[in-house]
Amino acid sequence: APAPIVAPSILAADFARLADEVKVVESAADWLHVDVMDNHFVPNLTIGLPVVQSLLAATSLPFDVHLMIEDPRRWAPAYADAGAYNVTFHAEACDDPVALAKDLRAAGAKAGLAIDRDTPIEPYLELLPSFDTLLIMTIKAGFGGQRFIPELLDKVRAARRHVDAGHLELRIEVDGGIAADTIEQAAAAGADAFVAGTAIYGAADPAEAIDKLRRLAER
Ligand code: DX5
Ligand code: ZN
Repeated sequence: APAPIVAPSILAADFARLADEVKVVESAADWLHVDVMDNHFVPNLTIGLPVVQSLLAATSLPFDVHLMIEDPRRWAPAYADAGAYNVTFHAEACDDPVALAKDLRAAGAKAGLAIDRDTPIEPYLELLPSFDTLLIMTIKAGFGGQRFIPELLDKVRAARRHVDAGHLELRIEVDGGIAADTIEQAAAAGADAFVAGTAIYGAADPAEAIDKLRRLAER
């Protein structure tokens, strides 16, 4: 299995000091997870393209942009053009996920498909060859600091079986409530990329928290 990816979510950082908060995790993190919310797809509002563009210039970390927005076809390619490493949009918000994945890849980014809490995974398994990452929410999308829902790991198991059987090159990423006491079960279910906000930025030493999470995810 490839080495696990740990992606700190800046949703749990101090938004008034974003560049500094990124520096704190820069040497330890694999990707930087950036949650874009529009107050329509989810009932919360974060940052958009201008802030992400400025932040991209402030660090060399690969950006894992998680778009929790309606109409991702209108916005997602701009994040790829801006230099995001991976751009993930929600299956629930897009009627032609494969077409948008193609556009993202053509713009030089990896393409990610996100599945929210109440969405079954089965209808999307056949689309996975068009994607580089599959983000399976382990909470309901919208807010940090929620409790991990272990039942949602059934979707990770189903995706892992499908990915292995088809020899697909795809990261299975989990997002929501990932911490020292939950990451091992997510890894055992087959996830190999891990988003954590509170567990990293809420720690006294965020870089050390990342190393600890990565060790727990190795198996
Ligand atoms: C919530 C976001 C998550 C959030 C996770 O919808 O997608 O990335 O930052 O926060 P924690 O790790 O605190 O659950
Ligand atoms: Zn996220």
